[in-house]
Amino acid sequence: MQTRCYNITDIALQRAKIEEAAAVIRAGGLVAMPTETVYGLGCSAFDPAAISRVFAAKGRPQDNPLIVHIAALSQLQTVCSVVPSDALALAARFWPGPMTMILPKSASVPPEVTAGLDTVAVRFPSHPVANALIAAAGVPIAAPSANLSGSPSPTTAQHVKNDLDGRIDLILDGGPCKWGLESTVIDLCSHPYALLRPGSVTLSDLQNVLPETVADKALFHDVAPGEKVRSPGMKHRHYAPHSPLTAIMGGGQASSEYIFTVFNPDTDAVLCFDEFLPRFKKVPCVAFGPEADYRAQARQLFAALRLLDENRYACIYAQCPPEIDASLAVVNRLKRAAGFHIVNV
Ligand code: TXA
Ligand code: MG
Repeated sequence: MQTRCYNITDIALQRAKIEEAAAVIRAGGLVAMPTETVYGLGCSAFDPAAISRVFAAKGRPQDNPLIVHIAALSQLQTVCSVVPSDALALAARFWPGPMTMILPKSASVPPEVTAGLDTVAVRFPSHPVANALIAAAGVPIAAPSANLSGSPSPTTAQHVKNDLDGRIDLILDGGPCKWGLESTVIDLCSHPYALLRPGSVTLSDLQNVLPETVADKALFHDVAPGEKVRSPGMKHRHYAPHSPLTAIMGGGQASSEYIFTVFNPDTDAVLCFDEFLPRFKKVPCVAFGPEADYRAQARQLFAALRLLDENRYACIYAQCPPEIDASLAVVNRLKRAAGFHIVNV
């Protein structure tokens, strides 16, 4: 299959391209679309055959459900059997935006989307291209991140192309993603409500609206084989480069000193904060943002991991920020990239 790619810089001027992409969705095809978090691989949420093509294109495990993307609050009623007032409160505060809610699913969502679960993940993205595509398609769009399963999520159209060229119909290129990590996922079907995946909307942001929300325990450890988790995605290996990665926690100064004590310049590489680039200039090294700028780190982390993936190393040593509310998303992805192989210095 030939994968077309359209650069969308102005939705009004390029309306015909959006309509063409929407027609591909309605015909059961696959379209990669930019969102404010990462690129998604979209198809009609009501088309089981298209959904199985998404799983096949990504090599995604069958038990890992997809997020359904909507472009109007009224579509929430079509994909959920009940919409609790707490869901509306979160929607009023964070939608359109990088927040996904787990809610009871309606009968119109096929079991292929939810991997047989009776709940559905729903998100109303804020990216204008995603919005325009969903609205033009006239159906909610089911979309996982547009990467091969196991790779870091794509934050540019080129990343999507590298992973999925020849496997999907169309890529809409809307430029680099603004946030760079996947959306915050909150489970509103559990008591207390649980944060299942940290993102740009932080735990304390959620608690400001729903104070009883807690962070799920499984966020903080490697899920053992057979362990029961609230979100199937938690048990799959994710975000990982092919070379083993070790996350070094502690201040930037201390972690850089530690790295020098264990580092082999012939076989290893470093993922470092910007300030430490000069110290590592003679070794394979990629920077992913200033030490205290978690937003810059979030935006650049996956691209940095993909860059490091162009070579094979015995070990990638990654400087990792301290785990606080504002850094939880970055730390979570780094720990998962490390397979929870963490050194505290
Ligand atoms: O930012 C994002 O959320 C991006 C963009 C494209 O919207 N999408 C994304 O999708 O990251 P994906 O498929 O890579 O991650 C969805 C996560 C998975 O960990 C999955 O297990 C979880 O959401 N999930 C989906 N439906 C669920 C459900 N009903 N219950 C619990 N977890 C669910
Ligand atoms: Mg994903």
